[in-house]
Parts: sequence; C-alpha cells; structure tokens
Amino acid sequence: MTMTNKIIFSGIQPTGQLTLGNYLGALKNWNKIQDDGKCIYSIADQHAITVFQDPKSLKNATLELSAGIIASGIDTNKHILFNQSGNPNHSELGWYFNCIARMGWLNRMTQFKEKSGKNSEKSSVGLFTYPNLQSADILAYHATHVPVGEDQKQHLELCRDIAQKFNHDYGVDFFPIIEPIINEQGGRIMSLKDSNKKMSKSDPSDNSRINLTDSKELIVKKFKKATSDAHLLPSSKKELEGRPEASNLISIYALLQDKTVESVLKEIGGLGWGDFKNKLADVAVEKISPISDEINRLMKDKGEIENILNKGVIKSREISQPIIDKTKQIIGFI
Ligand code: AMP
Ligand code: TRP
Repeated sequence: MTMTNKIIFSGIQPTGQLTLGNYLGALKNWNKIQDDGKCIYSIADQHAITVFQDPKSLKNATLELSAGIIASGIDTNKHILFNQSGNPNHSELGWYFNCIARMGWLNRMTQFKEKSGKNSEKSSVGLFTYPNLQSADILAYHATHVPVGEDQKQHLELCRDIAQKFNHDYGVDFFPIIEPIINEQGGRIMSLKDSNKKMSKSDPSDNSRINLTDSKELIVKKFKKATSDAHLLPSSKKELEGRPEASNLISIYALLQDKTVESVLKEIGGLGWGDFKNKLADVAVEKISPISDEINRLMKDKGEIENILNKGVIKSREISQPIIDKTKQIIGFI
C-alpha cells in the first residue's frame, strides 16, 4: 500500500495496564492503518489527571503504556508516539474549544455521567470539559481519521461539532471534519465477569480483564474462570443471539486470529465450554505472550522509551505549532 495523505490521530490514557479490550478495540487498528498515512499516537496523560493520579504511578503507567504500544507493533521511526503533556499546543487549543463547545453538548456526554456517577458535584471540572481537550488533541494536527473503540464515538461526534462551529463562527474552512474508524467487530470487548460491562483497565476485579502483561498461566486461569452459560457452543449466528457471554468470548477468539465469527462458529459449534476455553486460552497466549515479553524487555531500559517519547514530542510540536499560530490569527489575537 502507498502512503496517502491521511493524518491519523488517537490516544490512550495512562491509567492502568493495557487490556485485551484496548488491544482488540484500538491498538490492533492503530497497527493495521500504519501504511495508510501519517500516524500520531498520544499517551493522554493530561486526560488521566481528570481523576487524581498518584505521580509515581502516573509516570510508570506512561512508560508501560508506551512500551505496550511499541510492543504491539507501532513503528516509531515512521510515526509519532508522544506524551500529550509534552506539547502545550493541546491545552492551548483545548481552551479555545472550551469557548466554542456549548454546555448543552457536554451535558449529553455519557462517559461523564458514567464516570462521575451520582457524585457529579464532586467531579473535577476537567472531567466535564475533557472532550474539548480530546477534540484539541485531534484537531491540533488537522487529523482526518481517528481509530478508537465504540465508547469514544460520542466524543468524536463532539469533535466534528466543534470543528463545524469554529469554521462557521469565524467564516473559515480551517478545521477538518474527522472520520472515526471503529471496527464493527472488536469495538466493544466486554468484561469476562459481567457481559453488561466493557472490559476496562479500571475495573476493580482483575479477573474481569486480560492485561497485556499477564503471564501465560494467568491468561489460562482467567479464561477458565470467565463467566459462561449452560449451553454448548453454538454453530450459527442465529443460535448465538441472546448469549452475551458466548458472543464476547467467540468474538475475542475470532479477532485474535483475524477470522470471521461465521468461520469460527463452524469450527467450535457443539463444543463444551471447557474445550472452547482451552482453545481460546491457547490463541490468546500465542498472540499476547510476544507482546508481553517485549513490554518486559522495554521496561528494563526506560531510557529507550523516554527517548522515543521525547523525539515524538519534538515532531508533534513541529506539526501542531503552525496550526495553533493560524488558529490564533483567525480568532483575532495579536
Ligand atoms: P482507554 O483505556 O479508555 O484510554 O481507551 C483507549 C482506547 O481503547 C480507546 O480507543 C477505547 O475506545 C479503546 N477501548 C477501551 N476499552 C475497550 C473495550 N473493552 N473494547 C474495545 N475497545 C476498548
Ligand atoms: N479519551 C480517550 C479514552 O478515554 C483517549 C483519548 C484522548 C483519545 N485523546 C484522544 C482518543 C484523541 C482519540 C483521539 O479512551
């Protein structure tokens, strides 16, 4: 494939270990589209502090997340990997977008409602306005494509609204209207313990997720303990309906091997849960172990990771600074 002029941007928060949900929902796509354009991937550390983070843990999570992204195959010689806080253009543009986005738009954000729960009065203001900063992350590079999991769809719609309103208010055609890239399959990997919840780094139960740094033994154990149901594995999509645990585990099995659910159903239809879970654990170990070995190797030389991030910060500023300069000129700043 030849390089096109797509500018691809995405981010992940350093708030815990990378999960199989991050890998299948986001990182796998980040990897796949590397030949389609210029990729700019950010460790969203300024987003992370919308909820208090212990400084030492934040630093370690930033390095480990970077290691995870590198280990899952992102070529940092061709593309940019950097920590958001290293480039002040994000927070500067984020402020301008605070003045573009409307209260009503942010009031509709479901992630804020989920994260703040019943206690929204005690949430940080940053947690509320964070989708504006997310829009700034993307638009500071005039990115055109944003690969994410399903849960980010609403934030990306807000980014389109902000770009449109800015362009309209100032009578310019400056910020692009971005295209989300969300895989229909894999966009939402669910918890291994509760198929109503997404698999998440921040779930209090470690058994609810597979971490990319889990040992082989732990991966096998977690799949064995995963919630299932009382039937044999189905052999058609029709039989899969109304079986959320089976749907989730079968999707994971299919995605890990780049197979379709239909072809997997032919292979596993009629098996008992024990046999299927063994197969699932085998393919998961085969895919995740090399990534986890590479993360461990990289974490032994944190200097190498810091060099990659520092280089990324410099390259990111080179792209975003002229866009911020032009934004200020459009707004009417001297
Ligand atoms: P986060 O871990 O919330 O910073 O998310 C980082 C990226 O991973 C975003 O693109 C999310 O949409 C994606 N992601 C997180 N959890 C899942 C999941 N359970 N299934 C699919 N994608 C996910
Ligand atoms: N908010 C995203 C999440 O919680 C992470 C993120 C930050 C992001 N900035 C971004 C995703 C820009 C896409 C584009 O998962």
